[in-house]
Amino acid sequence: MSSEPFDAWLAAQRPAIDGALTAVLARAGAATETLEEALTHAVLLGGKRLRPALAVAAQEALAPNAAPEPALMAGVAVELIHAYSLVHDDLPAMDDDALRRGQPTVHVAFGEAAAILAGDGLLTLAFEHLASAPELEPLPPAQRLQMLRTLGRAAGVAGMVGGQALDMASTGQRISEEALSTLHQGKTGALIRAALTLGALTTPEASPAHLEALEAYGEALGLLFQVTDDLLDATGDTATLGKTAGADAALGKATYVSILGLEGAEARANQLLEAGLAALTPLPQGDRLAAALHWVRNRRF
Ligand code: IPE
Ligand code: IPE
Ligand code: MG
Ligand code: MG
Ligand code: MG
Repeated sequence: MSSEPFDAWLAAQRPAIDGALTAVLARAGAATETLEEALTHAVLLGGKRLRPALAVAAQEALAPNAAPEPALMAGVAVELIHAYSLVHDDLPAMDDDALRRGQPTVHVAFGEAAAILAGDGLLTLAFEHLASAPELEPLPPAQRLQMLRTLGRAAGVAGMVGGQALDMASTGQRISEEALSTLHQGKTGALIRAALTLGALTTPEASPAHLEALEAYGEALGLLFQVTDDLLDATGDTATLGKTAGADAALGKATYVSILGLEGAEARANQLLEAGLAALTPLPQGDRLAAALHWVRNRRF
């Protein structure tokens, strides 16, 4: 297990993740064809599926022999919220982007009203799914409630939404590195940390010490993920990224590149990689999560 490259493992998780997402959408009961198509476009056309895979990896780090389905289903709830966050992030009122996952963004393909409603639909669907997935039914009610609470906190005002608010407020501004770290921990880190915590909460092995270690690891990984997103926006190309390269500079976004420069951002990424690896020490089997850190550090899209 430990020697398997992370990208091969991620690819192997994909059919089950996509199958679960497809099933959730099929049961969603979209009232119009446009809404149904917008939901499908937002969720099923590409995406790396890192967050559900991280939920599985977190479960595996605590209980290496546990069946992956409960963690995967919990991770699917995070992925639904992630997909909604991208649809709204691309709206004209936010980053005004025309390309996502190599496709026209949802508002370009279906109009702004459909994009807003698809996002709203995915956000609520995530909680419905987390509360009703049969794979999660055997878990103690207190654990399931903690999962719902964790996801709500991470998705909302104190998490992703708050980070996006800071992102909008900081556009065109020069902010401190500390303020940028808070922003990134919200807009990107919160859902990544939630995926890890939800995966862990599907196992009885999740002690407070384990959850704390995963939180520290998630802080490093989540921030590293957005530092590499900032680096790729500045150095990648649109075809490889599947989204518009150079958009951050064009919009005047506060990013690790705008604040620290390319070299400074690379150095910060290396520090975060080390911090993430160090955080894994208390976990019974952290190899997969270590591999995830290296994968995120070296990703090209
Ligand atoms: C993009 O996330 C938005 C950020 C939080 C930086 P991903 O790079 O995980 O997007 P997909 O799901 O693979 O398209
Ligand atoms: C997006 O950050 C974070 C969320 C969608 C919550 P970015 O605006 O940097 O993401 P991309 O670069 O458009 O994917
Ligand atoms: Mg944005
Ligand atoms: Mg954006
Ligand atoms: Mg970006």
